[in-house]
Amino acid sequence: MRVGFVDERSSHEWRVALMPEGVRRLREWGFSVILQKGSGEGAHISDEAYAEMGAQILPTAFDVVERSDILLRLRMPSLEEISTYPTDKVLIGPLQAWRYEGEIKALADKGWTVLAMEKIPRITRAQSMDVLSSMAALGGYKAVLLAAVHFGRVFPMLTTAAGTLAPARVLVIGAGVAGLQAIATARRLGAQVEAYDIRPAAKEQVESLGAKFLPLTLDESAEGRGGYARELSAEEQAKQREALASYVARADILITTAAVPGRPAPKLITSQMRRSMKPGSVIVDLAAESGGNCEETQPGTTQVLDGITLMAPLNLPATLPIHASQMLSRNFTEFLGLFRKKDGSLTLHTEDELLRATCLLWNGQPFLQPV
Ligand code: NAI
Repeated sequence: MRVGFVDERSSHEWRVALMPEGVRRLREWGFSVILQKGSGEGAHISDEAYAEMGAQILPTAFDVVERSDILLRLRMPSLEEISTYPTDKVLIGPLQAWRYEGEIKALADKGWTVLAMEKIPRITRAQSMDVLSSMAALGGYKAVLLAAVHFGRVFPMLTTAAGTLAPARVLVIGAGVAGLQAIATARRLGAQVEAYDIRPAAKEQVESLGAKFLPLTLDESAEGRGGYARELSAEEQAKQREALASYVARADILITTAAVPGRPAPKLITSQMRRSMKPGSVIVDLAAESGGNCEETQPGTTQVLDGITLMAPLNLPATLPIHASQMLSRNFTEFLGLFRKKDGSLTLHTEDELLRATCLLWNGQPFLQPV
């Protein structure tokens, strides 16, 4: 079974699907690996490093796709790319498939099988394949660093001969994987950190990191399926915004990460709430990928509004390409390991619950989960 990956730098993607170590592991299991020349350069990995592990380097993406059985991608291929693809292959990756209906249809027309890794269930056995967690942790870390760079003050309390500098107040909304990493990073930098999540289970995790959990409660449980949050009603959202307002007003740094899988991000910060913050404050809206938690967010841009910096970065993990690639490579290899049968052969199948959960198309047909 031949696994291929390509250079995705033309779409500002500096991460790479497999590290040389991942290639070595896959080859041990009986896969062969091909890649487009220069695929690892965004993460500072040379073609020679891959070749040393037995991968074959090909000149173009087309060559790779044509000769692969399985194509690993970090982003959904464009319609233009798909139009050049041969038929009957397998696509695997964190594809954010819910955003790409047209592309999925085009792949179906080509008879492709598509496994969307963002749909891997959050169960213990799948932790080493969990691309969402890997990338969210890096995003949460980098969001705090971005805020620190754009903040005109320091994070820790500093007592100096020239006076005492007060510590920064950081508020993190959404204490999932990204939010918890943001809390830990802001704490390491010496900030005073408060956090909030609608899942009550997050309280203990927030407090274990030395941050204060905001005492806001909703009437109904907000715990959805699979440990995720559910989408709030308009009335609940309005109540939540009202309860959050005074905490937002006193924050110097606001990091928002609230998300509900497959849905637009909840709008938690209105323009009025943003205006209540002090000039010089910084907001990093990590939910920008799914529309953003702030009403004024423009995904992919940084705005300065009344002296408040509102950043809405996209694909932050790609700004840490080396570690991001290291984590992704482990996620991909573990996932491909599911194709190994007991007798050592490699088979594409949907007997495993993780493969079933991620399968969107099977030979071009919508894959229907058995009920
Ligand atoms: P996510 O990226 O979907 O959402 C981020 C956070 O936003 C979540 O904690 C969610 O509760 C919160 N949120 C949603 N709507 C909100 C609102 N209106 N106000 C405030 N907060 C809101 O979530 P993520 O980070 O992917 O994790 C979701 C859950 O999965 C967590 O419970 C996490 O601990 C769990 N998890 C379990 C794993 C495992 O057991 N293998 C691995 C990774 C995560």
